[in-house]
Amino acid sequence: MATDVITLITNDHRKVEALFERLKKEEGDAKATVAELHALLTAHARAEEDRVYPDLDAHHGLEEHKEAEVLLDELVRATPGTLEFRQTLEKLVESVNHHVEEEESDLLPQLAQQAGDKRLQELGKAFQQRRDEELQALMSVQDGGDVTKAELYEQAQEADIPGRSQMDKEELKEAVRKNA
Ligand SMILES: [Fe+2]
Repeated sequence: MATDVITLITNDHRKVEALFERLKKEEGDAKATVAELHALLTAHARAEEDRVYPDLDAHHGLEEHKEAEVLLDELVRATPGTLEFRQTLEKLVESVNHHVEEEESDLLPQLAQQAGDKRLQELGKAFQQRRDEELQALMSVQDGGDVTKAELYEQAQEADIPGRSQMDKEELKEAVRKNA
């Protein structure tokens, strides 16, 4: 299933925003959400840098990715519920929102204009591959090699398994296994 790169990038942006919302509302396990956010944002940024920005000559985005990375690291180290955590989250949200806005209002339309449908699909495939490779590597580091809930959720999402957001780790594992 090939999808164009613009759809894939935009989907990631919405996913990141949903994670931000969860953290802001202090829903669920903040540490797990931060881990998921960290993996997703890092994989997304790597894939953009390696596979998409070269087509755009977008050096500017790199600086923003660095800034977000520093803030992400701070957030990973901060204790949920503390002032430090909230302030770091606020800065990260601001930085990432700015980047998302710029990409969606400027870089992605530019890309849509200059690249044909075929190229957008090709870039989509390359972006997805790079992103998933990075995600896999990050997840296995976080979890000492075992598969994480975030990773399983990601797989469930790709397979479009119904009811996935209500499942716990074991249920996700089972659903993904059955679907394979
Ligand atoms: Fe992006």
